Amino acid sequence: MNRPLIVANWKLNKTINETNAFIEVLIPLAKDTNDIDIVIAPPFTALHSAHLALKESNIRLSAQNLFHEDKGAFTGEISPLMLVDVGCNYVIIGHSERRQYFQETNEIINKKIKAALKHALTPIFCIGESLAEREAEKTFDIIRIQLAEGLKEIKPEGIIIAYEPIWAIGTGKTATPEQAQEVHNFIRNWLLSFYGKDASKIRIIYGGSVTPENIESLMNCIDVDGGLVGGASLKADSFAKIVNYRRRKS
Ligand code: 13P
Repeated sequence: MNRPLIVANWKLNKTINETNAFIEVLIPLAKDTNDIDIVIAPPFTALHSAHLALKESNIRLSAQNLFHEDKGAFTGEISPLMLVDVGCNYVIIGHSERRQYFQETNEIINKKIKAALKHALTPIFCIGESLAEREAEKTFDIIRIQLAEGLKEIKPEGIIIAYEPIWAIGTGKTATPEQAQEVHNFIRNWLLSFYGKDASKIRIIYGGSVTPENIESLMNCIDVDGGLVGGASLKADSFAKIVNYRRRKS
């Protein structure tokens, strides 16, 4: 297993004040967790204040999206340069909500991953199947296409894959550890055949109704290197329980 990574994806939630209040509670609760990488992904508007509040902590900052150009006439967009400027180390790319509501294709996502890497931002590249695709036994076909098109002409260094089955997002319906492991293992093998043995270092994290109750069983899966947490990351105490899943045990 690689060094675990737990990411809070707040989606369209939290003002600057709410972000600061969350961070104030989280920092002391997470300060002794040094064997895990902890990342929070606030909305764009709260990134600057989050960066200032997190400065002396072991918690890193992620954005939830970016545009692939550095600058220019692209009204309303945010570039990788700007994300670095505001203190981000990571960026979530290709989340299923962006694919569904903002028509992001694998081709667009591929451009975004390249743009992030160009500026030394770590892309958290999201993939996953819908319920209809799973029921039609197309899960592996979908994953294979998303990987092949999303990672086209991209080197393995500095990428993170997030497997998020769409049917498990915000539904309370978590993939069982067996279901997660099966797909993570498929992703691992695909990466190994695409990149060679270096791919064993690529972290593959799971997202979809992760909670303080189920994190440990998911993290016990050999190919699950972490979690991408939505709903259960919005309260600092609940997210702290998730990042402290190992310490709670002892
Ligand atoms: P939930 O944890 O709310 O299911 O959201 C998962 C997710 O989409 C994280 O990116």
